[in-house]
Amino acid sequence: MRKIVIAIDGYASTGKSSIAKLLSSHLNYIYVNSGSMYRAITFHAISKELIPLTKKNINTLISLLSDIQLDYRINNSTGFYDIYLNNTNLESKLKSLEVSNHVSSIAEIPQIRKHVVKIQKSFQHKGGLVMDGRDIGSVVFPNADLKLFLTASDDVRAKRRYDELINEGYEINYEDIFNNIISRDKKDSKRKDSPLIIPKDAVVIDNSKMNIIDQLNFIIKLIKTKFNF
Ligand code: CDP
Repeated sequence: MRKIVIAIDGYASTGKSSIAKLLSSHLNYIYVNSGSMYRAITFHAISKELIPLTKKNINTLISLLSDIQLDYRINNSTGFYDIYLNNTNLESKLKSLEVSNHVSSIAEIPQIRKHVVKIQKSFQHKGGLVMDGRDIGSVVFPNADLKLFLTASDDVRAKRRYDELINEGYEINYEDIFNNIISRDKKDSKRKDSPLIIPKDAVVIDNSKMNIIDQLNFIIKLIKTKFNF
């Protein structure tokens, strides 16, 4: 059976990674979370005290790129890829509000996008692939076989992210999460380099009232119809 490339883009906290994981397991495909690369660079910038992102700090961060080794490695207990920066697994450290509050400013720096997109494109050769993010269907894999674009109401998205972080033990309040989601959407959609757009050939899924199994069934049906699987 032909293995396809599935690009999932969408607004912040629309459950892209949850459905991407489920779908990739169902199809026995590789799943790559592209946002974790921007988050890992943001984590690094914070730990190198390059925040606030002044011109000088941006230039320092760009000059550090050649020394930052970013890669994904399979986690044998989850079966998914974890993100590594200079051989350190950062997977569990990237959802903090501190990282979320700076990541969109870092993700709009063209030199950083160029560096990250090159690594992301290299996954195409690995066969069946699901990748999620903001520019996957538009820039990373413009020829993806299937493009999905996820959306949901602001409240539903904020509540989901709030519950997720509370369950993981973060001390956060709902309003900060809500504001972060809205401001990231705005910044991601308005930036000059690879803004968040709905690709013309994408199927838009509003999952405000859908659970994850409804979404999986909908996408599987779409794949069966489109590719005769
Ligand atoms: O999981 P959530 O939707 O909150 O975000 P994420 O996928 O972890 O992405 C975090 C941020 O990275 C986004 O708000 C974007 O600023 C940036 N990003 C991007 O610019 N391009 C991508 N392909 C993925 C993420």
